[in-house]
Amino acid sequence: MAEPGRILLIIGGGVAAYKCLDLIRRWRERGGTVTPVMTRAAEEFVTPLSVSALAGEAVHRDLFDLTAEAEMGHIQLSRASDVIVVAPATADLMGKMAHGLANDLASTLLMATDAPVLIAPAMNVRMWEHPATQRNLATLQADGVTVVGPGTGAMACGEYGPGRMAEPLEILEAAEAVIAARRGPRPLSGKRILMTSGPTHEPIDPVRYIANRSSGAQGTALAEALAALGADVHFVTGPATHRRPKGVTVVEVESARDMLAAVEAGLETPADAAVFAAAVADWRTASAAGSKMKKDGSGQPPPLTLAENPDILRTISRRDAGRPPLVVGFAAETDDVIAHATAKRLRKGCDWIVANDVSPASGVMGGTENAVTIITADGSESWERAPKDAVARRLAARIAAALTEDSPAPRAAAGGAS
Ligand code: C5P
Repeated sequence: MAEPGRILLIIGGGVAAYKCLDLIRRWRERGGTVTPVMTRAAEEFVTPLSVSALAGEAVHRDLFDLTAEAEMGHIQLSRASDVIVVAPATADLMGKMAHGLANDLASTLLMATDAPVLIAPAMNVRMWEHPATQRNLATLQADGVTVVGPGTGAMACGEYGPGRMAEPLEILEAAEAVIAARRGPRPLSGKRILMTSGPTHEPIDPVRYIANRSSGAQGTALAEALAALGADVHFVTGPATHRRPKGVTVVEVESARDMLAAVEAGLETPADAAVFAAAVADWRTASAAGSKMKKDGSGQPPPLTLAENPDILRTISRRDAGRPPLVVGFAAETDDVIAHATAKRLRKGCDWIVANDVSPASGVMGGTENAVTIITADGSESWERAPKDAVARRLAARIAAALTEDSPAPRAAAGGAS
């Protein structure tokens, strides 16, 4: 299941505005996101509070909202979606769009966007049939705007005829078609990719654990980038603080041993690639206490004996049966990045290592940017520093290229023991 997409929903001022609540709920149920924008008139029909509660995002209402401007300018807002849906598209909004007026947030976004626009008109029959509306409709269609509805039926105003807004499901189907046309063919459609991400927690007793500072941000970005290219992503994550990726199958685990079991279960269905981005704890306690450990008053702390965890990447890379054709590992290094990561690739038996410099001077850890080097059997390639989601998109494109080549990615030569 790939991520269905981001909708910027402009709610116009009409009785049909209430249908937008259902539209938002249904799109989010499918794993999509909705950024809501309301006109002043829309607020007479539904409250911004209901809209933002269902969307899970604040409603954008004001052209001159300095807080929103500081976070995301209206130009950016207008372009950050896969499609802009205007529902209900009132006679007034259609008129503004057709004539290029931009005197409030909704109309400004519609002028500033480079995303495709879908409108769901809704108005009184006479207004819909009015030559001015029909002229505006023709102009909008000529400008490339997609139109869904209106349907014919009894109207809230007591008249009968065309003017009823299309039903939410119909609007969402139209939005899906617009998004699919924009995305074009997706290179990872039909490919299954298993990933690990986040830290692991290794229990000491029922309330304490050993952990690390991995947030899961890079893994989440990569999962979404792979899903955006059409992959069916099976995402096994430890207890990461970062949000979970959208549009993928998520399996939550705690410890390294749980993670290995979940990966092995996930690979019972063959995968085309496996990407191990998790920061797995190298050690766990040799035996976790069954009840909370207590101070015994002697002043002597209890000994903490550690045992080595299974190496998930190495276990899967060295499998004879059911090894995905492309296995990618990550390596966080503080010095001699390329030499260490090259040795790691051979030791683990994976095809690629994505190495990054996590020395304090690099600022990568906990930061929003990453600079990686991709190490394969053919050598190494360093990518310039970029935001983590841009690195994710580039890596996803590289994985797509490897999986769609005529011959599958070469299997790494087995290296020495780890
Ligand atoms: O040996 P190191 O921890 O540096 O290796 C990092 C790579 O190995 C990452 O891809 C990580 O997900 C994977 N790994 C693993 N299981 C472990 C340790 C590391 O899958 N127990």
